[in-house]
Formats: sequence, structure tokens, C-alpha cells
Amino acid sequence: MSADGPVLVVDFGAQYAQLIARRVREAHVYSEIVPHTITAAEIVARRPAGVILSGGPKSVNVDGAPLLDPGVYDAGVPVLGICYGAQLIARQLGGVVERTGRGEYGRTALNVASDGPAPSVLFAGVPPAFDVWMSHFDGITAAPAGFRPTASTADVPVAALEDPSRGIYGVQFHPEVVHTHGGQEILKAFLYDVCGCRPSWTMTSVIESSVEAVRAQVGAEHVICGLSGGVDSAVAAALVHKAVGSQLTCVFVDTGLLRAGEASQVEATFREQFNVDLVHVKAGDRFLAALDDVIDPERKRKIIGETFIRVFEEAAADLGDARFLVQGTLYPDIIESGTKDAAKIKSHHNVGGLPDDMQFELVEPLRNLFKDEVRAVGEELGLPEEIVWRQPFPGPGLAVRIVGGVTAERVAILQAADAIVTEEIRRAGLYRELWQSFAVLPVVRTVGVMGDERTYAYPIVIRAVTSDDAMTADWARLPYDVLERLSSRIINEVPGVNRVAFDITSKPPGTIEWE
Ligand code: XMP
Repeated sequence: MSADGPVLVVDFGAQYAQLIARRVREAHVYSEIVPHTITAAEIVARRPAGVILSGGPKSVNVDGAPLLDPGVYDAGVPVLGICYGAQLIARQLGGVVERTGRGEYGRTALNVASDGPAPSVLFAGVPPAFDVWMSHFDGITAAPAGFRPTASTADVPVAALEDPSRGIYGVQFHPEVVHTHGGQEILKAFLYDVCGCRPSWTMTSVIESSVEAVRAQVGAEHVICGLSGGVDSAVAAALVHKAVGSQLTCVFVDTGLLRAGEASQVEATFREQFNVDLVHVKAGDRFLAALDDVIDPERKRKIIGETFIRVFEEAAADLGDARFLVQGTLYPDIIESGTKDAAKIKSHHNVGGLPDDMQFELVEPLRNLFKDEVRAVGEELGLPEEIVWRQPFPGPGLAVRIVGGVTAERVAILQAADAIVTEEIRRAGLYRELWQSFAVLPVVRTVGVMGDERTYAYPIVIRAVTSDDAMTADWARLPYDVLERLSSRIINEVPGVNRVAFDITSKPPGTIEWE
């Protein structure tokens, strides 16, 4: 074991593992997620400071329950089992885990054991009784030999257990969720006092090590990076630029389907502020021509994806010698790739999703970071708030928010309305709170009356949602005064619009985008 090594979170159920890894990193200790099939030898080879076994949806007693290589318990590396992880420790080391009929779900009062020589080191920073978050149907009814129970609840005598001489600890509750009072203190006690970690993993250290890694990978070669205006590609570009300066060329394909002001913001940030070599390809006309008369949403996506690739390839060919391509791949993409087989609802086109036959070696400086960490790195690098905190935006851009035909006139209407939505949502202090907030332009026109004149014009639909991951979303309960300002400003300021509607559909059954 090495106190400077990573803390490995063994994954027995993906969401649990990700949250634990994030909490460990919030304690400024680097953590990575590893599959539960990892062997003890593989763990030892990583020289970890500690190992945390995550929760998981199964019972440890069913056939096929995921197990841990038992060699890990004797590897001399501190182990903390959480929920399923604690039950696994109990079962694999000779204790008893049973369906007791007294499962616990939600907030539960925990009592720290007071009969031992001293409370567990894990509970040194928390009161003798506090509320924890439980979610389990099986319970540990007997701790393995050598272990002592260190906490209990009204229904569960072994709510935490440990054998400090072997460095093995388990908690039945979830310290990683905010509902567990002092949960972060408990994790910190494991990290600092059991594993001996120091809180040295900061965004500054992340930037330093990424810069070194990029330099080592790229040497003196030329690197290109596709900028989309979104946070991931922007932070990746800024990091690589910090590492290799003028060896980097950024290619910004302006599809003409971006939000108002986005292109000038990319120019101002990268060319003017960072002095990056920036190729701004103004391809709006080409995208509009390719989309002429196209109504079907999937065809729009396909055409935009293909046109994007062609434009990017041409720009890259003009640059000639670039051997490396920067991609803003994030850690969740790495964890989930391969394990994710969610039904394909829409063919997602990521700007930068380039074909395999482009002969680039990838530079992925964000591949170990979660989204919030990418934002923190962006802030530390001095990227403007508008970029770092930009809401997600689909690769095909406004084309999937313009129902029906995409024309220059309709793009202009949507851009103007969308800019008002963003401005008013920001002014109300809601921009960061909302997952997305934007305008949609339907294909219908309706009758109105403005200044005694009959109008026949488009409505604008406002879409605002809250979400954690875009897999599900709820429509945001925007305050009436915000809705009122949106309605009056859009109708007064955007020619061609005479009505504003608010989309009150959650996902499912709706999707966030309209197409
Ligand atoms: P839906 O509309 O499927 O969107 O609920 C979920 C999230 O994905 C974004 N989105 C896309 N992102 N390329 C992207 O990079 C796409 O083609 C695409 N379509 C939707 C959408 O904005 C939301 O955040």
C-alpha cells in the first residue's frame, strides 16, 4: 500500500460507485472506480492507499452475487465496505448475513457502540448517535471472528463492524449520500486516519499532472482540437494549450446552428484571451444547404453529423501535419462505455465524434474527471463563466429545436428568442440551477392581434427542465414573473413571433429536446 496511491472504489453497482468516488475526491484524495472482477494482484499492482467496496443492488446470498477476490482482504491494504460491501466483508470472512425481515430504508437513527475500548476511529468526528441513510433488506447478524460491531440501530445489531488489526471496516449505511449526517467526516476518517492519505488532490495538482502528461504524450508534434463552444471541449483545449502552447490549433466549425453570440464568445476567449491558433470555419451556408427541405429529425441529425465530419476533415487536411486530436472525453463516459446498453432513443451526434479512419492519436486530458471537476479546472484555468457553466447543448444545435424545415429566417427567429430566454433565466438567478432552459420553434403558425393588426406568426415554446443526468427530467416550475417577462419580451422583440407557450412535459414521456 502507498498513502500517495489512489483509493480504488470497487464497483458493485454503478451509481453507488460513482458517488463514492466523487466524495473521496471532494476530500482531495484521488479515487478511481474498478470493476469487482479485479484480482487482488491487480489491486496490489496499483499501489492503492485504500479500497472501498461500493453498495450494489444484489443480495450477497444469491447465486451469482458479485464477490471480491478474497486475497484483497489479506493484501495489507485498508478496506472499507459500504452497504453491500459491508455485507460482503461479513460473508466472505465468516460472519452471517441474512434476510431478517427487518430491512431499513431511508433515514435511520444510528448508535455508535460505547462498550469497546474506544469508539471506532471512523466515528471519532461524529456524535454518539446520529441519522444515517439506509437501504438494505439483508442484515449482518453475526460479525466474523476478529471483528467487533461498532454501531447499531434499533433493528440491526451490526450496523458497522471492523477489525482494525487487518485494516478492514464496514458500514451498513451510506456515508456518501447527503442524508447521512457527518457522512463525509466518516469517509475522511477512513481516508486520512486509516489509509494515511493526505488531502493533496486539488484542481491545481490535476492541472499540473495533466499538463505533464500531455507534454509527455505529444512531444513536439502538432495537435488539433475541435471546439464546440461547450464546456468539455473548451476545458480540454485550454489544458492542452497550457501544456503545448502554439503546437495546438483549435478548429471551430461554426454550423450556423449555434446559440446567439456563441461563435464570437469562442473567438474572444480562445483567440483573444488565450492567444490560441484558432481556425474558425464559417460553414453555416453549407449546413443550411444540406438541410434544405429536410423535416425528419433523424435525417437532420445524420446530415448534420456527416456534414460536420466532412468540414472538420477538410480543415484538418489543410493543417497537414497534425498527428494528435484532443477529445473532451469525461470519466463517466469511460466508466460506462461497454456497460451501457440503454435503448437508443435518438442517434446522438457529438461534435467531435469523428470516424475511425481519421488517423489521429487521441489526447484526452479530462478522461479521469467528473463534470463538476471539469468545471472547476475550467475556472482555475481562467475560462469565462459563460463557457464553464454553459448548459448542455445538443451536437446538431438549433436544428433539433426547429421543428420542420430549417431556414436562415427560422434560425434567426430561434436565436433571438433563445437569447432572451437565457438572459432572463440568468437574470432570475436560475441558469445554473436548471439543467437546460431554451426556446423551441414549432412548425405551426397561429393568429394573433398586435396594434390592431391581425398577425399570423410562429409561437415560441419555452422548455426549462431540472435533471441530474438527462436520463430523466422534470419541467421546471419557473416563477410566473419570469414567464411573464419571457412572454412579453419575446413577442415584442422577436419579429415573426406572436405567442409564447411553456412546455410542462417531464422526461419520460417527453424528451428534453423536441426532436
Ligand atoms: P433528450 O432530448 O434525448 O436529450 O432528452 C438528452 C440530453 O442530450 C442532449 N442531446 C444531445 N447531445 N448530441 C448531443 O451531443 C445530440 O444529438 C443530442 N440530442 C440531445 C440534450 O440537449 C439533453 O441534454
